Amino acid sequence: MPSAESAGTPAVAVADVAHRYGDVVALGPLDLTVPPGEFLVLVGASGCGKSTLLRLIAGFERPTTGTVLTGGVPPIPGRGAGLVFQQPRLFPWKTVGGNIELALRYAGRPTDGADALLHRVGLQDVAKRRTWQISGGQQQRVAIARALAADRPLLLLDEPFAALDALTRERLQEDLRSVSTATGRTSIFVTHSVDEAVFLGSRVVVLSPRPGRIVLDLPIPLPRTGITPDDLRGLPEYAALRAEIGHAVRSEGASA
Ligand SMILES: Nc1ncnc2c1ncn2[C@@H]1O[C@H](COP(=O)(O)OP(=O)(O)O)[C@@H](O)[C@H]1O
Ligand SMILES: [Mg+2]
Repeated sequence: MPSAESAGTPAVAVADVAHRYGDVVALGPLDLTVPPGEFLVLVGASGCGKSTLLRLIAGFERPTTGTVLTGGVPPIPGRGAGLVFQQPRLFPWKTVGGNIELALRYAGRPTDGADALLHRVGLQDVAKRRTWQISGGQQQRVAIARALAADRPLLLLDEPFAALDALTRERLQEDLRSVSTATGRTSIFVTHSVDEAVFLGSRVVVLSPRPGRIVLDLPIPLPRTGITPDDLRGLPEYAALRAEIGHAVRSEGASA
């Protein structure tokens, strides 16, 4: 049985955090608490500090003021979170499977888990190919599988689908939604797309233009199982949430 303390520990606790680069106030001040298992989507204009917030949570930067805790302790860079960026950043001299095996080995896990991870992201048929022999969408699937291979309690995704064409993007959204529901991994996903936010999130937070502060924090009470993506997108609640979030983004003058 988990202790009362660990049971109540948020996956992420951002308290009164602001961040500056020299004279530029990039973010905050803001407070954000993410309970375990949540799929939080951050929406905001270009330059409002979304990537900065993810870097603070990953431990790559220390906040100018305030505190960031992950799992109750200060984040250790490269240790606490799996990361997915807009560019997949794969090793081109390795096969698809080899990239995953490397991540497993680095995490101290058995490399025979690679097949199951590739299956999870729909890549079982291209395991032997080089990463430059697969499409951009497939490369981004490898990046997601690699982040899962790291087996961190937290997944941070910084506009991972922004460079993909619309159709590929929709497929990856659908697959990420079911993967995240199946793994229950606490995730923070950054996007510009209101539709992507409603589709993926169990909660959506809208940030103001720089310096980013929270202007809307909305639970997304849509079903995560037993419904097709098309039916989900067709729900009246889906349209209502989209409208509410879109309004918050626009009224903040998110001109990006
Ligand atoms: N390393 C840095 N040095 C100086 N300014 C930075 C640095 N990183 C980001 N910024 C500035 O901080 C602000 C927020 O950047 P960023 O977090 O990348 O925003 P977003 O991801 O929302 O587009 C921007 O004005 C950006 O130019
Ligand atoms: Mg960014």
